[in-house]
Formats: sequence, structure tokens, C-alpha cells
Amino acid sequence: MDFLGLMKKRRSIRKFKQEAIPKEGLLNLIEPACFAHSLCNRQSLRFWIVMDPQRADFIYQHSSLGSVSDGEGGLTTEKFAPPSYIAISTLGEPGNADFADAGAAFQNMAIMSMEMNLGLFWIHAFSEKIIKSFLNLPEEQTIMAIIAVGRPAENPVAINIDPTEVNQFFDSKEKFQKVPKLKTKYLINWR
Ligand SMILES: Cc1cc2nc3c(=O)[nH]c(=O)nc-3n(C[C@H](O)[C@H](O)[C@H](O)COP(=O)(O)O)c2cc1C
Repeated sequence: MDFLGLMKKRRSIRKFKQEAIPKEGLLNLIEPACFAHSLCNRQSLRFWIVMDPQRADFIYQHSSLGSVSDGEGGLTTEKFAPPSYIAISTLGEPGNADFADAGAAFQNMAIMSMEMNLGLFWIHAFSEKIIKSFLNLPEEQTIMAIIAVGRPAENPVAINIDPTEVNQFFDSKEKFQKVPKLKTKYLINWR
């Protein structure tokens, strides 16, 4: 398997086809998250799946979806809204290790999504209090992230750039979203 090629291909998807993802699919997507790194193997993360269209719409209305300018205004419009979501919570006030655990779980899901032809992205900007109450989470749980999930309706492509290059996300000529990634040599240091 060309694993590096796979990693280069993985992209955040912020536009979705209006097609429901079956329960089985969402369960299969989450399963690899249960095998992810976890501080002291605490496994403190909990996953809250939302696939009901009305509930999904509530999350859409109470989150800020998409922050990358795509030449069409940036935010994910209703006609591309995600059909399902997975909220990731932990016990109590989340610390750095909780976010690290959530990141590891998310990455496993992101890899799995490629095999399943699903797209996803991490939503950071959402109203925790409102969504927690709407989903009826236990008081002691805190939502750290909401993952939007659906069939991709866009095909963003990563490009390797030098720091001096213009950091432009949208190719207005070819009409596709570019995701600029600094070349490895600019990120690493030898000591
Ligand atoms: C902790 C975290 C929070 C993020 N929050 C958002 C968000 O609120 N909205 C969004 O559109 N993308 C969000 N993203 C996705 C990043 O914008 C995305 O990973 C980045 O632009 C690089 O694109 P790529 O995932 O295709 O490599 C988040 C990513 C991470 C790791």
C-alpha cells in the first residue's frame, strides 16, 4: 500500500451530497477510532452520532461550518450541508491530552473514510452548551469536536508550497479548492 500517497490524498471535505449515510456506515467509520492512541489508554472519549435530518439541521444552524474561502463565500451553504455528524465528548473539563486523544481518533476516522468514500471535517466553532443540551448529553460530558460526515461533493487537492508562495486556497481558473501544505524541509529541524 502506498501509505504516503494515501495521506497526501486525505483532505477535509466541507461540501456534501444530500445523501443519507446509513447507520452501518457511521458505525464502521467510528470503529477505528476505538483503536486510537489514548493517554494511559483511558479511552475517555465518547461518540454521539446524529443522522436524523432535523437534528442534523439543528447542528448545522448552531455551528460555523467551513472557514476556508472557496470563492463562493467560504461557509458551507445549506445545499451542501452534512447529512450526519459525530460529536466527540470527554468527561469534565477537557485538557490537552483529551484533545490529543480526539485528534488521534479523528485521524483514524479520516483514514477509514477514504476506504468508504466518505468525506469529513472537524468543526471547531459550535455552540457547546446549546448542542450538548439539544443532544441530551449527561451533565458531566463536554463536547470537544463535532465531525461532519457525508459523501464528498468536492475534491480539494493538496499542493506543496514554499513559504514565499501566495497562500491561496481557491484556484479560480480551474475552480477547485487547493490546500497549500508547506514542504517538509520547512517544518523540520536537525539538532
Ligand atoms: C483542531 C481542528 C479544528 C478545526 N476546525 C475547523 C473548523 O471549525 N472549520 C473548518 O472548516 N475546518 C476546521 N478544521 C480543518 C482545518 O481547517 C483543515 O484541517 C486545514 O485547513 C487543512 O486542510 P486538510 O485537512 O485538508 O489538510 C479544523 C482542524 C483541526 C485539526
